[in-house]
Amino acid sequence: DDQEAGGEEYLFKVVLIGDSAVGKSNLLSRFARNEFDQHSKATIGVEFQTQAVEIDGKEIKAQIWDTAGQERFRAVTSAYYRGAVGALIVYDISRKTTFESVKRWIDELTTHCDTTVARMLVGNKCDLENIRDVSVEEGKEFAEQEGLFFMETSALDSTNVQTAFEIVIREIY
Ligand code: GTP
Ligand code: MG
Repeated sequence: DDQEAGGEEYLFKVVLIGDSAVGKSNLLSRFARNEFDQHSKATIGVEFQTQAVEIDGKEIKAQIWDTAGQERFRAVTSAYYRGAVGALIVYDISRKTTFESVKRWIDELTTHCDTTVARMLVGNKCDLENIRDVSVEEGKEFAEQEGLFFMETSALDSTNVQTAFEIVIREIY
């Protein structure tokens, strides 16, 4: 039928949010292109990439949106969130302040999207175990309180990157 033309049955918008330099852009490049950039620049405005994922034999296209963590580089907030059905709220396990900001990011998400959005708390840079500043327990507990999925990832060594995106996409689907 028409909907299956080109095999594009589903297109889901997923947004990445979190403080600057937590690794949002590298999570996206790792997921979509299997690339990592040690010297990536801060994002200005909005970027997105579409990645096909197979869930239960169905091809799903995830359109992942990435924006600046820094206020001054951010695009129009309401446009960024419009139509989103999933969100990854990212912090850096080696910087406590980024974890403390999570509440504010969730508030912004809640302001712009309804509660049915599939949400995952992501503690990125878990390769930096030697300078860890947020315990796994803290992350897990907070996620439980807020009713979010939780996962620690590393865009650098690929730990759980695919899994984190797939859990959110599967929940939407
Ligand atoms: P903004 O665009 O400013 O919001 O930042 P961002 O969240 O997109 O961060 P970005 O992906 O640009 O990464 C910031 C820095 O962290 C870069 O130097 C990356 O190389 C580094 N980085 C990202 N992910 C990881 C990771 O999993 N482990 C380590 N060790 N470094 C990472
Ligand atoms: Mg970025």
